[in-house]
Amino acid sequence: MVKTLPKVEIEELKPGIKAPAKETLLTPRFYITDFDAVANMDISLQDEELQAMLTEMRNDYNRRHFVRDDEFKQSWDHIEENKRRVFIDFLERSCTSEFSGFLLFKELSRRIKNRNPILAEIFELMARDEARHAGFLNKAMSDFQISLDLGYLTKNRTYTFFKPEWIIYAVYLSEKIGYWRYITIYRHLEKHPEYQYYPLFRMFESWCQDENRHGDIFNALLRSQKSMWNTWKGRLWGRFFLLTVFATHTLTVHERSDFYDTIGLDAKEFDRIVIRNTNETSARAFPEILNTDHPEFFTRLERCSDYNLKISEIENTNQPKWLKFLRKLPYHISIFGNLLRLYLIKPIDAEALRGTVR
Ligand SMILES: [Fe+2]
Ligand SMILES: [Fe+2]
Repeated sequence: MVKTLPKVEIEELKPGIKAPAKETLLTPRFYITDFDAVANMDISLQDEELQAMLTEMRNDYNRRHFVRDDEFKQSWDHIEENKRRVFIDFLERSCTSEFSGFLLFKELSRRIKNRNPILAEIFELMARDEARHAGFLNKAMSDFQISLDLGYLTKNRTYTFFKPEWIIYAVYLSEKIGYWRYITIYRHLEKHPEYQYYPLFRMFESWCQDENRHGDIFNALLRSQKSMWNTWKGRLWGRFFLLTVFATHTLTVHERSDFYDTIGLDAKEFDRIVIRNTNETSARAFPEILNTDHPEFFTRLERCSDYNLKISEIENTNQPKWLKFLRKLPYHISIFGNLLRLYLIKPIDAEALRGTVR
């Protein structure tokens, strides 16, 4: 018999449906883009690669992977309240970002269907994967008697407009960083099964291969657009997205160090491993990557995270808005200053490495 869980205090939209987390600069975004420009994109430079990726996607290697087997069918009462709260937060964040991918890919596929059939099918198949991922995470949430209303999210979230080139840089990175996050957690728990308190984590090995394939598709898209890697503008944009994605990662991982504690991972170490690997992988796609070995690289990123935690602390007080603003201002300026210094660290020329990395 299924027992009723002692409830974790969670703000609800209606019974059993979680009110979505407040949108901030650090929460997963929902995107729209210039669909006509994508439909007209000349992808001939990477035609072969994209055809090969399409065949891979049609093979649907994970079609039988996302099944809730017997291990899921049990009571989770034994997971204590705080652990459950941070885990639900992890599930919500992951589900939202998977769902954001689904919406973008689905819409891209629908809008370019008659004009760019190859890309349309690739996006359709990526949407299939992301729907599975989001659905699986939402089902996991329901084991804790809460779930997300994805229809409500679709209608009520703010959508950010990104030019197709920005979408390609940003989605490439989010797929590859997603891959490294999932595989790092999986490998860690393989060595330390005592921290595997819920069966979701053991699904990550095949799951992350979906993200890896999605990343490879965006790799081909990026390389199909010469302006994205063969111009000084492309170099600057590439670096900008690398730094933005890494800084967001550091800030969110440190903000949620409680969750990483529950699975026996040190947040700082996890963040560094994921960033180093994602940066290295990006050398296959981006014209330049960041120098993560520079002595100031992680020091400055982590300093930004410390300031971000101070900002949250101030935000959570009952002080008047104007006072909070004034108290937060120096931290915002310092974060900006540190990010600027990070941006100016001499990057590594990935084009020069091309041929040796692959
Ligand atoms: Fe995914
Ligand atoms: Fe993905």
